[in-house]
Amino acid sequence: MHKDLRDYIRYLYKKGRIIEINDTVKPDLEITAYTDAASREGTGKTLLFNNVEGSRMPVVTNLFASASSLEELFGGTYATELLSKASRIKSQSAKISMIKGAKMLLDSKPKIVASQLRKYKKLKSLHDLPVLKIWPKDAGKFVTLPLVITKSPIDQTVNVGVYRMQVYDGSTTGMHWQAQKGGAVHASEALEMKKDLKVSVIIGTDPHNILSAVAPLPVGFNEFAFSGVARGAHTILMSNGRYPEVPANSEIIINGYVDPTEKRVEGPFGDHTGYYSVPEEYPVFHIEEIYAKPGAIYSASVVGSSWHEDTVIAQFLFGLFKPIIKAMNESIIDIYLPPEGIFTNMCFLSVKKRFPGEAKKAMFSILGSGQLSFAKIVVAFDDDIDIKDKSSVLWALATRVEPQRDVQIITGTTADSLDHTTNIPSLGSKMLIDATKKTRNEGYTREWPDTIALPKELKEEVDRKWASLKK
Ligand SMILES: Cc1cc2nc3c(=O)[nH]c(=O)nc-3n(C[C@H](O)[C@H](O)[C@H](O)COP(=O)(O)O)c2cc1C
Repeated sequence: MHKDLRDYIRYLYKKGRIIEINDTVKPDLEITAYTDAASREGTGKTLLFNNVEGSRMPVVTNLFASASSLEELFGGTYATELLSKASRIKSQSAKISMIKGAKMLLDSKPKIVASQLRKYKKLKSLHDLPVLKIWPKDAGKFVTLPLVITKSPIDQTVNVGVYRMQVYDGSTTGMHWQAQKGGAVHASEALEMKKDLKVSVIIGTDPHNILSAVAPLPVGFNEFAFSGVARGAHTILMSNGRYPEVPANSEIIINGYVDPTEKRVEGPFGDHTGYYSVPEEYPVFHIEEIYAKPGAIYSASVVGSSWHEDTVIAQFLFGLFKPIIKAMNESIIDIYLPPEGIFTNMCFLSVKKRFPGEAKKAMFSILGSGQLSFAKIVVAFDDDIDIKDKSSVLWALATRVEPQRDVQIITGTTADSLDHTTNIPSLGSKMLIDATKKTRNEGYTREWPDTIALPKELKEEVDRKWASLKK
């Protein structure tokens, strides 16, 4: 458990996972170049920049670059136990555990304490923060690791998501929440009610809060309740009456509103797709107040291709939630999102077919599952194929697919708004490939050939002899 961001940084120090940079660095591109180098080499190191040109605030990047840190943060906690039990829900003890877990989630409602803003310093404008320009063709500076907190104007449920914010001037930014995300859902409710949506944004808090904001929880599920379960202690929020409550351990707090009728061009921004995102109209965040704790540390994330921090985060969070997806789709034995498929675009399934068409059923279920529904290429393989192994996957694609029969295109459906290939933003098509062996009850009239293999005992014996012959 980490009290706040600084406590987590101290922990990373102890583990030898931080590199401090004391040379003066520019917030424009130079911090990216260091972070990119650390990520590309797979060091898993967090970077702390103590001297950032034009600001007294240190900047930290790559907070979650180390998979070990993520394991340590969530490993063995009630949340992980609960999620892994989900895949074994058929057993009585797993059911009891789930009920206990559900109760724990309800009990873990964040605690709300009175405002502690007296401990903070009021800042004049966003220009007082060391906001980074990440890539050369970005439209400007972007806040890349903000926790954006909104409340449903209808039922007051809380949503927290990480959505980048393009700085337009000292008091306005873009609000890049994708249409399917919680913040956008609250904004559409505000539009129906013809009112502004109050928004609090924080930068820098304990790691459980940050990771819970990124986690693909269903809309209506309070991320701060989830972080309480993951941490094993309630999230403490502070209220200031006029805006959504924020964690009491926030480094920087930005309060304001979004007028749901207002849009402004956002981007380009070098995104995790490896491309600059195409400029599109997004809501505008009007800032009314900014506070920073004395000695505040500004945190940022650098994304831009599959070797950056977000890959580590996505891989970890997906592993955490996979048991639930498998429990809901009993035809699926395993799921793999290859990093080259930028996590959301490509999805491989392992299926053990028991009835005709089961591979397709498994693929359809993915298209209806939360943020997995962004997947645009879904492939189902038999369970003898290692879906994490490229050569195995390519072999199955080459030898088990008859394109006319096994490839299906579904048009006019939801797409990731970051997908620049679609003609219309957020609307596209899906390709489903059934790369499983076809059976008679699926209309395959020939005899599907066996795969070639030597008898197991003979192979093992000769392999042993072969190993000594090679020496
Ligand atoms: C560094 C980083 C930047 C992100 N930027 C965005 C963004 O600009 N827009 C967006 O919709 N999602 C973005 N995400 C993903 C969301 O945070 C994630 O989908 C989250 O589950 C959304 O929460 P919600 O379902 O409560 O809306 C980003 C994630 C990370 C790790």
